[in-house]
Amino acid sequence: MTAAAPTGAAPRLPIRLTVNGQAHDLEVEARRMLVDVLREDLDLTGTKVGCDTSQCGACTVHLDGRAVKACTVLAVQADGGDVTTIEAVAAGRPWGPGLEPGLHPMQAAFVDHHGLQCGFCTPGMIMSALDLVARTPEPTDGDIRVAIHGNLCRCTGYQSIVESIRAGAAAMAQPREARDGVAGS
Ligand code: FES
Ligand code: FES
Repeated sequence: MTAAAPTGAAPRLPIRLTVNGQAHDLEVEARRMLVDVLREDLDLTGTKVGCDTSQCGACTVHLDGRAVKACTVLAVQADGGDVTTIEAVAAGRPWGPGLEPGLHPMQAAFVDHHGLQCGFCTPGMIMSALDLVARTPEPTDGDIRVAIHGNLCRCTGYQSIVESIRAGAAAMAQPREARDGVAGS
C-alpha cells in the first residue's frame, strides 16, 4: 500500500477524498491533517487554521455529513470520505441542488445580522450552523449555543452570531421565492 518515496522522505499513502462533489486521488504523509491537505494540496483556503489544537473551530468542515474540526482529523482517516467545505456552501450545494452560485441563506443571514467582524471564524461558524440546521431545522437559541460551543469568535461577543444562525435557519425553511425576499441575497 505504501507508495514509493525518496530516500529519507516520509512515506506517502494513497487516499481518495471527495471534496465538494469532486473526487481527488492524493498521496499524503501519514502525519498530515485534513485541514492542511484541503488548504495546501487542494487550494481550498476558505477553511481557516486558528489554533491547530482543536480549540477554535475555524477549521470546521463536514465529513460524511457531520461537522468535524479538520485540524484534528488525519487526512488518511478521511480516506474514502465525502468532505464539504465553505467553498461549496457559497454555491449552495449542501442546502439544495440546482441553486445559482451566490451567498447561501445562512451566509446572507450573517451579513444581515452582523454575525461577523473580521470574518476569520465565520467559515467554521457557518459549517457548524449548517450541521445544526440539518439535524434541527428550527433550533432554539440554546440549541445554537450548544452547536457553536466549539467555535471561538474574538470579535462579536456571540449574540449576533446566535441571531444570525436563528435567522439563517428560518430563511432556509422558507420556499425559495419567500427566502429570496427574507435573505435579501
Ligand atoms: Fe482547528 Fe482551531 S484550527 S480547532
Ligand atoms: Fe472575528 Fe469572529 S468575526 S473572530
